[in-house]
Amino acid sequence: LGYIIHPRKADQFNKTMTDNNFLFVPGPTFVPGRIQRAMSRSIEDHRAPQFAELFLPLLEDIKKIFQTRSGNVLIYPGSGSAGWEASMTNTLSPGDKVLIPVYGEFCRRWANMANKQKLNVLPILTEWGNEAPAETVFNLLEEDVNKEIKAVFIVHNETSTGVVTDVAAIRRALDDAQHPALLFVDGVSSIGGMHFAMDQWAVDIAVCGSQKCLMLPPGLALIGISQKARKATLHARCPRAYFDFSDMFQANGDGYYPFTPPVNLLHGLRESINMILEEGLEQVFHRHYRMAKAVQAAVHAWGLELCAQSRKTYSNTVSAIVLPESINAAEIIQQARKHYDLYLGAGLGPLEGKVFRIGHLGTIHPLTLSGAICGVELVLQSAGLSINIGAGISAALDSLSKSTDVSQLNNCRNHPNMAYR
Ligand SMILES: Cc1ncc(COP(=O)(O)O)c(C=O)c1O
Repeated sequence: LGYIIHPRKADQFNKTMTDNNFLFVPGPTFVPGRIQRAMSRSIEDHRAPQFAELFLPLLEDIKKIFQTRSGNVLIYPGSGSAGWEASMTNTLSPGDKVLIPVYGEFCRRWANMANKQKLNVLPILTEWGNEAPAETVFNLLEEDVNKEIKAVFIVHNETSTGVVTDVAAIRRALDDAQHPALLFVDGVSSIGGMHFAMDQWAVDIAVCGSQKCLMLPPGLALIGISQKARKATLHARCPRAYFDFSDMFQANGDGYYPFTPPVNLLHGLRESINMILEEGLEQVFHRHYRMAKAVQAAVHAWGLELCAQSRKTYSNTVSAIVLPESINAAEIIQQARKHYDLYLGAGLGPLEGKVFRIGHLGTIHPLTLSGAICGVELVLQSAGLSINIGAGISAALDSLSKSTDVSQLNNCRNHPNMAYR
């Protein structure tokens, strides 16, 4: 038996058991077989008519995921951060004032990038774990009588803290202040998994990345652009070349790219959109809501708290879990990886070592999630957290058993009450 169960390795995950790891970071997420197969194909000529046949309907259908009819979506090679850069350089000019509430790592990184682009960043420093303060946004916009603020940047779903901001409230702040600033929204970890209503919220720029709710490998930056944002490109003076929207719009009009596109990823995106629309956007949102509720139930049963300060801001796609000071979150993450091939998200910036994150987004469903919760529970217990083994998973299963009914959507703050029709 010595060669079947090696005594020194008995407690370590055997990599040969499966090629599917338990990827529970908040993106990249697991890529379903359907999408993998759609991408696994011979390389095609991106100037041939077949490419336009793939691409033109894709450009239309991706709008359904962003819930926009009046806007357009551009799809660049790159990650979400490339989407940020493309958006700001195409619509703003050096020295423009931009209002950026900073309540997590991704807000902070976005603000840093805006600084590097020589924009004049007006940060609203907000305690991490909270959402963007709509009232402060309103007050600052109202005070700006000369309308010098050209844009407000909001991260819809702050992946570092697991906090959702009420974008509709931010839109109201702009409208109530009668301010013409552009509204930029980062939907990198929400679009395709949580209600994101680009038209209804009058979002001017909506940024997404392929590797989260869209269930694709990293590599695509998707940018929703309103008509107003498109007009702003005519006067924007930030330097841009590769990411120039006008080149992209022109080539896309005929179904092509102004450069070599990532064709296989686009085939994957076609399949991803098919899967989401087949399931139905509302169902997809509801599935994410159920998963989030189950994780929240487990967290509370473990006697732990989420980083999100208020229940109404709990994210449906990621939970950031705060550990007692006696336990280093990095150790939990490392043990989960070592023993169960379970990959959890680390705490970012000032949350490093204090928080670990469970991503529950993309192709996630109750059974895979349950496995991850069991893994976390085992690791937490062996790290010395005083929990009754089974308490967390039991609470999660209880939550899952009670949330099968779609009518429960009404309990969900971000429920898709205006899903695209
Ligand atoms: C909310 C949010 N915005 C932006 C980014 C940056 O995206 P990327 O790493 O794809 O460049 C991330 C990445 O996790 C994110 O979660």
